[in-house]
Amino acid sequence: MKLIIANWKMQLDIRESVALTHRLMQGLPFAHELVLCPSFTAIAPLHELLMGHSIRLGGQDLFWEEKGAYTGEISAKQLHEIGCSFVLVGHSERRKNLKETEAMINKKMIAALSGKLVPILCVGEAYKKQLTAGLADLHLRHQESIVIAYEPEGSIGKKAAPLSSVLKAHAVMRELTRKLLPGLKSKQLRVIYGGGMEEKLAPAFLAEAQIDGLLVGGASLTMRTFAPILR
Ligand code: PGA
Repeated sequence: MKLIIANWKMQLDIRESVALTHRLMQGLPFAHELVLCPSFTAIAPLHELLMGHSIRLGGQDLFWEEKGAYTGEISAKQLHEIGCSFVLVGHSERRKNLKETEAMINKKMIAALSGKLVPILCVGEAYKKQLTAGLADLHLRHQESIVIAYEPEGSIGKKAAPLSSVLKAHAVMRELTRKLLPGLKSKQLRVIYGGGMEEKLAPAFLAEAQIDGLLVGGASLTMRTFAPILR
């Protein structure tokens, strides 16, 4: 079973998020583990809808402090409280549009883990530098885990990277992560691919042992394009 993460970005309102989740629930069980990352406003309604179901929720971002005078921010604890178990960290759109730095991303990684969330660290072409910075001072307890999402910038919203280059990058990232986090067990680390994923490409990517799952943006917004990826 692989991990499929749907990143709905700022694309769906509450009504659309509920409707799509409803349709996904009707399609259960899937061949893979599914995590939905909707807009913050849709998390609570989806949590209610998903009670007792296997589909899980994730935030698209978090702030590194637990509480305080931080206007507009949301903490790991607050995300956990409304039903999230995952959170995206350092997505390339935030690195670019919000000027998120490696230091900020590292603090978010640490905060996510201490707030009982599984962080999904998004890295791009500069994955060596981004992993080294993002995973600094991270200490995982044995029940905790992380996800690394390799998303080459040129592929997001466009065409997926060639499978052979993804496999090479994943192997390097896995090895580097093990070096950076000594003692990490294989079940604590999942390396997934994102960027231009489409239903016709998904089977070949998911067939590879080196690819633990997919982070899907555009194709996760309709049942027509998303359901074939999940089956
Ligand atoms: P995409 O987005 O599947 O639309 O390329 C992936 C992402 O940005 O996480």
